[in-house]
Amino acid sequence: MSFDSFIDREPDYRAVAMSETTIITHASELLTLRGPKRSRAKAEMSELSIIPDGAVVVTDGVIEDVGRTESVLKEHDAAGVERLDASGKVVMPGLVDPHTHLVFAGSREFELELKLKGKSYLDIMAAGGGILRTVRDTRAAGEQELFDQSAARLGSMIAHGSTTIEAKSGYGLDRDVEIKILRTVRKLDEEFPVDLVPTFMGAHAVPPEFAGRPDDYVRFVAEDVLPAVAREGLATFCDVFCESEAFDVDQSRIVLQAAKALGMGVKVHADEFTSSGGAELAAELGAISAEHLAKPSDDGIMAMARKDVIGVMLPGTPYTSMVGIYPDARRLIDIGVPVALGTDMNPNCWNESMQFTMSLACYKMRMTPAEAVTAATVNAAAAIGLEKRIGTLERGKRADIVIMDVASHVMMPCRFGTNLCTHVMKDGKVVWTRGPAPRS
Ligand code: NIG
Ligand code: FE
Repeated sequence: MSFDSFIDREPDYRAVAMSETTIITHASELLTLRGPKRSRAKAEMSELSIIPDGAVVVTDGVIEDVGRTESVLKEHDAAGVERLDASGKVVMPGLVDPHTHLVFAGSREFELELKLKGKSYLDIMAAGGGILRTVRDTRAAGEQELFDQSAARLGSMIAHGSTTIEAKSGYGLDRDVEIKILRTVRKLDEEFPVDLVPTFMGAHAVPPEFAGRPDDYVRFVAEDVLPAVAREGLATFCDVFCESEAFDVDQSRIVLQAAKALGMGVKVHADEFTSSGGAELAAELGAISAEHLAKPSDDGIMAMARKDVIGVMLPGTPYTSMVGIYPDARRLIDIGVPVALGTDMNPNCWNESMQFTMSLACYKMRMTPAEAVTAATVNAAAAIGLEKRIGTLERGKRADIVIMDVASHVMMPCRFGTNLCTHVMKDGKVVWTRGPAPRS
C-alpha cells in the first residue's frame, strides 16, 4: 500500500501542505526538552524545560524558534504565515520508537488462549506458535503482501504520534528473506512520511534448517548474510537475541563483531528472561543500546552506565507475554543508565502506540510522566543515533512535532486506551490529523 492509498483509506489521514512558515501557538505546555545534545540520565530525565502558553515556529521543515506565544508572535507573525492553535493542549517532540519488529506476515492471536491456560513459551512453540511460526508465514508471503501488512501497522503507529521508527528484520532467518524484509523497510521508509531506521537481526532464532547447529547458523549469519546486507546498505544497526533460548554471549559476540567490522552500530536483546550476560556484552562492544533488560546483573548495569549504553525498556512485552517481569527502570535510572522506551511491536506484542507504552512505563515500572516523555523522545532518538537531529523542540532540529489533547504531560499516561494525538507533524508537514467527533 502506497502512502497515497494510506491517505485514501481513512478520510481523517490528510497530508496538509503547510505554508513555508507555520507557528503552533498557545500550547498549555510546550515540552521543549532543551538540553545537551545527548541522551539524558538520572535527574536530567525529569527536566522537560516546559514553556507555558508556548509557541513553536517551523520554517521549511526545521524548528526556527520556540518561546512564549506572545513574544514569538511579535517576532515571527507576518502575512502568509500559517497558524495552528494548540490551546489547552500539550505540544511535544514527535515520538520516537527505537525498537520494533515491524515487518512480518501473519498474526498469532491464538497464543493468547494458550497463555491464559498457563502454557509456557516452549508449549506455545510446540503448538505451532512463537517466532518460528512467524518465520514460516513471512517466508511464504509475497513482497507486496509483506509490504501491505506492515504498512497497515505503520499507518497506525504514525496516527499514534510516532514520527521516527526503528524496524528490525529477524523473521526470515535466511539470506533472501532477511533481505526481502529489509528491502520492505526501505520501501516503507520511501513511501510513508516518517523515517524508518533499519536493523538487521538475523540472529533472532535458529531456523529449522540449522536445528541443533546454532554455531553453524551463527557462522552463516556473520559470514554470508551480514556481508550481503552491508553490500546493499540495508541496515544501520545489527541486533542479536542474546538469551539462553536463543544465542549465548560468545555466539552473539561473533555476529556483533562482524557487524561492527562492516560499519554497523550494534544493539543487544539482553537479559529478557535470565541474566545471560547481555548487558555486559553490550558494554564490552560499545553497543548503542541494550534492550528488554528484565534481569540484568548488577555488573551489567554498572558497565552500561559507565559506557553510556542506553537501556531500552519495552513494557509491552511482559504485558503480553504474561510470564516475563517488568524491568526495574527505577534502578537503571538511579544507577545512571539513560533509559528509553519502545513498543517492541511484534506478533507477540502487537503494540502500535508509544502513548500506551509511556502509560505502562509509569504504572508498571514506576517511571514518572516526565521521565517517560524523555524516554520516548530524546533518549529514544539517542538509542538509534539521531539525538542531534530529532527528539527535542529546539532551534535547528527537524520539525517533528505532535499535539496531544491533554493540558498537561502528567495527564498523558493517565489517559490510556485512547489516542490523544490531534496532529502529527513530520519535517514541518502535518501528516495526520484527528477528525471531528461524530455527533447525531
Ligand atoms: O523482542 N525477544 C525476542 N523477540 C521478540 C519476540 C518475537 C516473537 O515472539 O515473535 C521480542 O519480544
Ligand atoms: Fe524485540
